[in-house]
Amino acid sequence: MPLLTTTETGALIPGPTATLMYDDWYPALRTSTLRPGKMAKAMLLDIPLVLGRMANGHVFAMRDSCPHRGIPLSVGWFDGHHVTCKYHGWEFEPCGGQCKVIPSLSSHDKLDPTRIYATAFACEERDGHAWVYIPGPGSGRKSESGERRPVPELAKFDERYRTAFLTADLPCNVDHGIVGLMDPAHGPFVHQAWWWRSRGSIREKTKRFEPIPEGFRMSAHAPSGNSAPYKLLGVYGEPVETTIDFVLPNRRTEVIRCGPKWFSSLTTVTPVTASTCRIDVVAAWNIFYNVPFVPAVAKFFGRKFVRQDQVTMIEQAEGLRHNPSLMLIDDADKPAKWYFALKQARLEAAADAASRHPLNGPVELHWRS
Ligand code: FES
Ligand SMILES: [Fe+2]
Repeated sequence: MPLLTTTETGALIPGPTATLMYDDWYPALRTSTLRPGKMAKAMLLDIPLVLGRMANGHVFAMRDSCPHRGIPLSVGWFDGHHVTCKYHGWEFEPCGGQCKVIPSLSSHDKLDPTRIYATAFACEERDGHAWVYIPGPGSGRKSESGERRPVPELAKFDERYRTAFLTADLPCNVDHGIVGLMDPAHGPFVHQAWWWRSRGSIREKTKRFEPIPEGFRMSAHAPSGNSAPYKLLGVYGEPVETTIDFVLPNRRTEVIRCGPKWFSSLTTVTPVTASTCRIDVVAAWNIFYNVPFVPAVAKFFGRKFVRQDQVTMIEQAEGLRHNPSLMLIDDADKPAKWYFALKQARLEAAADAASRHPLNGPVELHWRS
């Protein structure tokens, strides 16, 4: 069963694992972890990867498996130019995967090593992430860049800004991770804290959504008055406006603007395996740029916030082990339903995917949170 499906009553029949979406960019690891002449391992969509940084600064990603006998390339050597397999010493150019040298070949051999390729993936560095393009199974060697979607990037509105990064492993499949990401109703329960909000602060909300390509936007609005971080922005005396987008396969962007001041974040929920995922948050801002300790304080609260989601999802995974049937209700779970519909349209790949957008136009949703 590929996806959760809704029934008339809103009940859901859970599939064992999420269907994975290929042909897109996923963050594999932080490029700050790449050391000169060293390789690092990562896992995306059940594919073991080895990554590194070339002497010229470019990052690369290969399947962590030698095409000769399958030993991980990560146990071999990397000199900034070539990856050498530990077993029989075949040498590969890591960005394209081409084999350059097979040391065992003699003058009697006709084999041309350069006709052999290890699997290399397109890999680009943005916002400190090594983004790797994962083509669909069986789509052959690294495809030409013209066919790929653009590399995701955090929106920035100024030259000078501060940044932060947070990550957490989630023991659930990517669909549960994403549904958790766009779920407005868990806030007052999971994220209870004096600085965010409490159960007592629950109030009725109306939010306007509009369709965007392969996603939806919570239209620009003044953020919830019931959370302290947004109240702080009041010191600038300018109207505060926030826009939140979700776009397939896994990206939520939030932009808060307050006159010339801004905060921007990109949150991704990335399938590591078919049944586990990882949440990554990169953020940039020029709000309180010159106020000391703000980055440290922001990271402290950000970590706490992500940790609350992580703990909840660890508990949820315990319940999901027994394959319960689940529900998506109106309106608080409507964005989750849109996500499943958008995903289904993409998976069916459909030339008519655009016309199958679950939103025909702007809509208002109502919930209490
Ligand atoms: S297994 Fe890699 S060179 Fe033989
Ligand atoms: Fe949350």
